[in-house]
Amino acid sequence: MRFLVAVAFLVSCVSGIGVNWGTQCTHLLSPTTVVRMLKDNGIQKVKLFDADPNILDALKKSGIQVMVGIPNDMLYTLANSVQAAEKWVSKNVSAHVSSGGVDIRYVAVGNEPFLSTYNGTFEATTLPALQNIQAALTKAGLSTRVKVTVPLNADVYISSTNNPSDGDFRPDINNLMLQIVKFLSDNGAPFTVNIYPFISLYLDPSFPVDYAFFNGFQSAINDNGKIYDNVFDANHDTLVWALQKHGFGNLPIIVGEIGWPTDGDRNANLQSAQRFNQGFMSRYVSGKGTPMRPNPIDAYLFSFIDEDNKSIQPGNFERHWGLFYLDGQPKYQLNLGTGRANGLVAASGVEHLEKKWCVLKPSANLNSDQLAPSVSYACQNADCTSLGYGTSCGNLDVKGNISYAFNSYYQVNDQMDSACKFPGLSMITDKDPSFGTCKFRIMIQTDSAELNAMVGSTTTVLMALVVLLLCNVSF
Ligand SMILES: *[C@@H]1O[C@H](CO)[C@@H](O)[C@H](O)[C@H]1NC(C)=O
Ligand SMILES: *[C@@H]1O[C@H](CO)[C@@H](O)[C@H](O)[C@H]1NC(C)=O
Ligand SMILES: *[C@@H]1O[C@H](CO)[C@@H](O)[C@H](O)[C@H]1NC(C)=O
Ligand SMILES: *[C@@H]1O[C@H](CO)[C@@H](O)[C@H](O)[C@H]1NC(C)=O
Repeated sequence: MRFLVAVAFLVSCVSGIGVNWGTQCTHLLSPTTVVRMLKDNGIQKVKLFDADPNILDALKKSGIQVMVGIPNDMLYTLANSVQAAEKWVSKNVSAHVSSGGVDIRYVAVGNEPFLSTYNGTFEATTLPALQNIQAALTKAGLSTRVKVTVPLNADVYISSTNNPSDGDFRPDINNLMLQIVKFLSDNGAPFTVNIYPFISLYLDPSFPVDYAFFNGFQSAINDNGKIYDNVFDANHDTLVWALQKHGFGNLPIIVGEIGWPTDGDRNANLQSAQRFNQGFMSRYVSGKGTPMRPNPIDAYLFSFIDEDNKSIQPGNFERHWGLFYLDGQPKYQLNLGTGRANGLVAASGVEHLEKKWCVLKPSANLNSDQLAPSVSYACQNADCTSLGYGTSCGNLDVKGNISYAFNSYYQVNDQMDSACKFPGLSMITDKDPSFGTCKFRIMIQTDSAELNAMVGSTTTVLMALVVLLLCNVSF
């Protein structure tokens, strides 16, 4: 009995790690494949960016806790219509919870709506949308089981010095933040914040590299006796101080996104991502919190799988946050503390397209005026974020660069012959052009490709039937 109590205490004390499951991909693994991966890797909770019914169906009876999301472009409607909020909750929460079993715990209202790049677009609508969704959850009888929250970027708070104790909410949204915080507190809901040490390093070339990680920083900050040797703790506790100053020192905090990308920037590579994520996970599993909040952290890694169709406006690294490549293969060794010490478990049953690549023809004329527009077209419609200084394909020469672009376009377009017809420039090869860290990847076969094939054959069967019927009629 005492043993059971002890186990229950441990379980409730250090909660399992969560992951973000984004779907901005040209080719998606099927939801059942991803849910299987989640379970194989001992992941206990997922955070979604919308409420895709196919994904929620796949999560049914999986035992995995779910945070569903409301995209920013829906905030206006949900802020202005109680009815729209009720409909959203009924269709995207109640239906899944009551149909036997999607374990929805949170609704994330908006995603980083106060990013300064949005120029205040969502400032007027976020709180009213939050209030309407909360009211709809209450009306649906779900408010004790499903909590609202707003995933916020870490720049909603600042410190005028490097010390967390000088933390407060950003002056331009201070009042709004206080209203949101009060609303969350009144409703027993958590504050969700996304914390990115990688971005600190990306934006500031003089940022001390080791301070971004969980080991190796030599000149720790002493903030009134609290010691900070990594920027995650300092950032997190800047929020804790901001909350505390306004009387909300006990508001629960969820780290909605944390991670490190593996490509697209000189600081984004397998070694750094492994160092950061393993450092974070070892801390997480130990149950040790931050100096201001010593209790276990509650967090969702960003991200589970790469998203090759994400906007690269913030930077080329955006498409490389996954623990797994697009095809469900793990990128590096990572011990999540879920009893699977041998690292991440790959997706099973994933089929790739044929071993074929589209490359620059050896005989191609590099002075052709078709060359630049061809490469630029390929890169715009596929993914060239592994090219450039310090990236996985940063060592390619001009010809290698061109081949990389052509191949990416060819793979994204399911190796259609017509996708390797750059005038006088390209050819298909069965010899893998990969070179060192630079991988010319082969795309996966997706369900939609299968579905198209099925629709194709159904159409053929139907047409055959029509022909038969017509023939019968004419008899
Ligand atoms: C990729 O993103 C663009 C822009 O958001 C969108 O128009 C396009 O449909 C997406 N492609 C795929 C295959 O999802
Ligand atoms: C439910 O969520 C989906 C996906 O985010 C969205 O497209 C749809 O409009 C939502 N349903 C309602 C009734 O709001
Ligand atoms: C924000 O403002 C800048 C500068 O005025 C503009 O370039 C950008 O497109 C705006 N962004 C949005 C999301 O409105
Ligand atoms: C290859 O392409 C990248 C990205 O467009 C560019 O930065 C780099 O200079 C190119 N390298 C060569 C050798 O042309």
